[in-house]
Amino acid sequence: MVEAVANIGVVGLAVMGSNLARNLASREGNTVAVFNRSHEKTDTLLSEHPEAEFVGTTDYAGFASALSKPRTAIIMVQAGKGTDAVIDELTKVFEPGDIIVDGGNALFTDTIRREKAVRETGINFVGAGISGGEEGALKGPSIMPGGSAEAWETLGPILKSIAAIAEGEPCVTHVGTDGAGHFVKMIHNGIEYADMQLIGEAYDLIRRGTGKSPAEIATIFEAWNKTELESYLIEITAEVLKQVDAKTGKALIDVIVDQAGAKGTGAWTVQTALDLGIPVSGIAEAVFARSLSSKPAQRAAASDLPGPTDKWTVDDPETFIEDVRLALYASKIIAYSQGFDEIVAGADEYKWDIHKGDIAKIWRGGCIIRAQFLNRITDAYADDPGLVALLTAPYFRTAIEGAQASWRRVVSTAAIAGIPSPAFSSSLSYYDGLRADRLPAALTQGLRDFFGAHTYKRVDMDGTFHTLWSGDRSEIESEGSSH
Ligand code: 6PG
Repeated sequence: MVEAVANIGVVGLAVMGSNLARNLASREGNTVAVFNRSHEKTDTLLSEHPEAEFVGTTDYAGFASALSKPRTAIIMVQAGKGTDAVIDELTKVFEPGDIIVDGGNALFTDTIRREKAVRETGINFVGAGISGGEEGALKGPSIMPGGSAEAWETLGPILKSIAAIAEGEPCVTHVGTDGAGHFVKMIHNGIEYADMQLIGEAYDLIRRGTGKSPAEIATIFEAWNKTELESYLIEITAEVLKQVDAKTGKALIDVIVDQAGAKGTGAWTVQTALDLGIPVSGIAEAVFARSLSSKPAQRAAASDLPGPTDKWTVDDPETFIEDVRLALYASKIIAYSQGFDEIVAGADEYKWDIHKGDIAKIWRGGCIIRAQFLNRITDAYADDPGLVALLTAPYFRTAIEGAQASWRRVVSTAAIAGIPSPAFSSSLSYYDGLRADRLPAALTQGLRDFFGAHTYKRVDMDGTFHTLWSGDRSEIESEGSSH
């Protein structure tokens, strides 16, 4: 029988799991029980880090007996069936009051289902979004746990000890019950998709508009990283663009196949937004842009379709680059604003008490979308917790005011030049849609009523109306009809 000396355990020792286990073991007071289905990974971890406070285990029973009570284990396996299998095994050897944490990128509705099933055994189940990639897992990620308040009492101090620190505060908070943590992580990833797409569009416009090399554009991104755009993704864009391919001596970006992969979290964000009725157009365009890129046969077939006849040149590269920077900033504000709208709608639908300001806070460090301007989002929600749209907060209103002329120039230039800018342009359309006094939705309502008697509301009186439209539809009758 293994002695119960570990206060926390990790199941699944691929890179993310091993790094998280190493992070946990490096913090004062933690002893970490580790388990992996194939023992080699456990042996490698233990032999490569003899100094770490690990207890290696070879089966689930041994893993459970290595843990002090309440037993707390973080599952770090690939989301999906593997997670269910590990949960099954752990529920066999754990007892009521123990805590199972799923640290993978699970779909939040799976987490809701799992939490409900595990709760029936008396064991706590916590779905925790963990962001920051391999380095974040090791040095300090941003952590978004859901689950019960009871589980958070035990788990909170442990997660606080390993999370990234931003402005002196650990990047972890109890997001809400059951699937709330994975829901918020899903939104994080949706914003990550939008952010990356916007960066891609900015790079493409500058490259094709000015003819600058990837290395030169890397320098531009380095400079941008000293502005309001300061963020991890801008920083690593410079690194990626600078990279030279060892095999050919070319810029590495030019030898990477231009077909973007996706594991699905961006698509989930959009699917969920569709169900909730929230327009996350920037995120949706980012997901679709990856899909479009990954259709080589269609792209090859379409490659000789006509584009603009006039050759596009940028007269004043410096002004153009600044325009692109501001268009990126304004579009980024839209992406975050839309993401937060989806959090509000999700919280409402699933009865989660999510504090938007706290979410902005825990995204300031450790995670992939960490950015200087998350502080501004935190401030905006602190000043007005009931803020209906982030982009209407004074700081962002002013930021967009300063950026909008550039934004419009960039979107129209991209259209004239035949350069795809789906995230830039959809974000601008969203902005113009939101601020419009009248939308053509009135016409949509008229058409719906015409062909399907779907009714409409009037601007000048309460009630629901149906018109007896002209022609052979004139005899259609309905309550409250107008002529
Ligand atoms: C993070 C990342 C991480 C992962 C994405 C990649 O927050 O650390 O979001 O979760 O890198 O899932 O997603 P795609 O493979 O879909 O781009």
